[in-house]
Amino acid sequence: MVTLPSQRQAFHIPDEITYLNCAYLSPMHQDVYDAGFQGLNRKFEPWTYTPAHFFSESDEIRARFASLVHGDAQGVSIVPSVSYGIGTAANNLSCSANQRILVLHEQFPSNVYPWRELAHQVGARLDHVDRPKMGGWTAAIIERISADVAIVALPHCHWTDGYQLDLVQISAKCQQLNIPLVLDVTQSLGVVEIDVNQLKPAFLVAAAYKWLLGPYSLAFMWVAPPYRQGRPLEFNWITREGSESFSQLVNYRDELRPDAQRFDVGERSNFTLLPMASAALDLILDWGQGNIANMLRSFTDEIAERATCGGLVVQDPQFRAPHLLGLRSTDELPSTLASELSSRGIYVSVRGSAIRVAPHIYNEAQDIDRLFGALSELKVVKD
Ligand SMILES: Cc1ncc(COP(=O)(O)O)c(C=O)c1O
Repeated sequence: MVTLPSQRQAFHIPDEITYLNCAYLSPMHQDVYDAGFQGLNRKFEPWTYTPAHFFSESDEIRARFASLVHGDAQGVSIVPSVSYGIGTAANNLSCSANQRILVLHEQFPSNVYPWRELAHQVGARLDHVDRPKMGGWTAAIIERISADVAIVALPHCHWTDGYQLDLVQISAKCQQLNIPLVLDVTQSLGVVEIDVNQLKPAFLVAAAYKWLLGPYSLAFMWVAPPYRQGRPLEFNWITREGSESFSQLVNYRDELRPDAQRFDVGERSNFTLLPMASAALDLILDWGQGNIANMLRSFTDEIAERATCGGLVVQDPQFRAPHLLGLRSTDELPSTLASELSSRGIYVSVRGSAIRVAPHIYNEAQDIDRLFGALSELKVVKD
């Protein structure tokens, strides 16, 4: 393990800002900004962008994403959002009347709406597993997985408070019953090691703009081999066999490209967004997810300890993701809490009944002091 130095300078975060909201929208590292700027210039000088670039840059980013999830580049498709990826999964998994699709209580809607739609179409039931009062959520999920479950669709940790599931155990149960597992790892990948060889998801999706430190309107999906001959959401030209031959595009072809490329969104070769995401993935691969997690765990452990001393409720460390933490109050939180904090230059999210705190590599010890100073001033924590 390497102790990473703070990257605050490279993110240009002003001294008066305490940004603890990566789970909302990450700020941008200088390298990502530069890559975006160069990308923008390509359209300024279109003669520098060749037809070959439409393919080579997409393939490079597939390889980078694949190495992050320990998968193969052929399994990676480039999509604009998580909802697009999950929509693709829902389009390619079967479910019949009276079966169940399992999700978590208050799961992020992009991993719920496509399943609601599928369940509605076939007469299946969307089954939300409640957060258990006692014991762990993983055990409660495993108990609900039985032969009448068609699909298990989960995150790695809950988006509101970082409650962490044991996906290894959940995946083992899915494999035992041959039930496809669909993962939205948007709130974890970039910090937490996720290995598709171990978890064996049918589809795994992650948006680029949070913990992957990339741009908005871009996400990546890894698709397991049995699903790579599936039906895409749209029928665009670049996903056709032979599409690299621009002079032959009107020799219309029925055959889609092999592997997960067939699920790519139209105009996937985005000159600005792909280089930004590539630069961001390079940073993460270079820092190492284990090292990032270690650094963020030291922040969230301290936040948890100070919150608990101040009378807030934090979930048990064994269920806590390293990077994302929900602080709950036994009293109702003031409805103006997020705006009171932002007026002091402190940025967190309030999600449901939790103050969601999400630090990253640009945070420093004084950010935590400022947060607790303000929470104390606002009487949310006791001194
Ligand atoms: C768990 C999770 N998944 C996905 C998203 C974004 O979804 P989409 O790309 O469909 O907008 C978010 C955004 O907050 C999220 O928290």
